[in-house]
Amino acid sequence: MEYQTLLYAVKNRVATVTINRPDKLNALNALAKSELRSVFEALRDDDAVDVVIVTGAGEKAFVAGTDIAELTVLNRQSGTAFAAGGQEVFDQIENLGKPVIAAVGGYALGGGCELALACHLRLASEKARFGQPEVNLGTMPGYGGTQRLARLIGKGRALEMILTGIQIDAAEALRIGLVNRIFPPQDLLPRAQAMAELIASMGQRAIRGALEAVNATDETGLKEGLAREAALFGSCCDTEDFREGTRAFLEKRKPAFKNR
Ligand code: COA
Repeated sequence: MEYQTLLYAVKNRVATVTINRPDKLNALNALAKSELRSVFEALRDDDAVDVVIVTGAGEKAFVAGTDIAELTVLNRQSGTAFAAGGQEVFDQIENLGKPVIAAVGGYALGGGCELALACHLRLASEKARFGQPEVNLGTMPGYGGTQRLARLIGKGRALEMILTGIQIDAAEALRIGLVNRIFPPQDLLPRAQAMAELIASMGQRAIRGALEAVNATDETGLKEGLAREAALFGSCCDTEDFREGTRAFLEKRKPAFKNR
């Protein structure tokens, strides 16, 4: 696949999507957003890919936000549509049906922080920095930040980041649960690839069922969520991978999953 603002590569059933505007700290302009939409549309149906890594080109930034140059012309109507359009792209990532890992090497600000939040796992370099600095521009997060940040780290901490616009470093992001793990910069992508390959080595019916059930916690109450979990667990029990996985354990060998 050829893109102007993205790099795309696949290795061992793991796709890496790299936002590639390093001279603008990978800020998301309209083209980058539309290419992200296209790449994730293609990834949904790509049977050769089980896990996706999203990262940013260069050492300085994951994504330093939406492209501020494109914000200046917005009014109430176009601004509402602008936010809804970005939200749609990030919803598509969250609901891809396959795990998406953000590998954050530098600034993840505004829309960049929101992009990381739409991913299922967040790995960061020790140099990463996170923030929702929109208030400095006289606006507020519009690509899901008010919702996903509060759900992930709690309302109090989310409001502190959103109301002050202050950046936090990787250690603080780890402490408050905004990222899963931090690594030295040179280890970030290899460790993200290793984690992605570990997930890709499992039976994907189980992986996708688990992802769907946990994703549903944002929308459902406990009772409905438990019913969904039971149904998805049941559908795993119907697979060859389940027979193989349980048999392999009892036979003291590694399972050979076939995604059936
Ligand atoms: N939109 C558009 N351009 C951006 C950008 C953004 N969100 N973030 C950085 N850039 C551009 C800069 O304008 C600059 O372009 P230029 O070289 O043509 O002047 C280039 O990327 C490098 O950024 P610069 O500001 O020179 O780097 P720095 O190391 O001094 O500062 C930041 C880094 C991240 C602190 C600073 O770029 C910044 O505050 N960016 C905006 C963050 C933000 O508010 N994001 C939310 C947007 S809703």
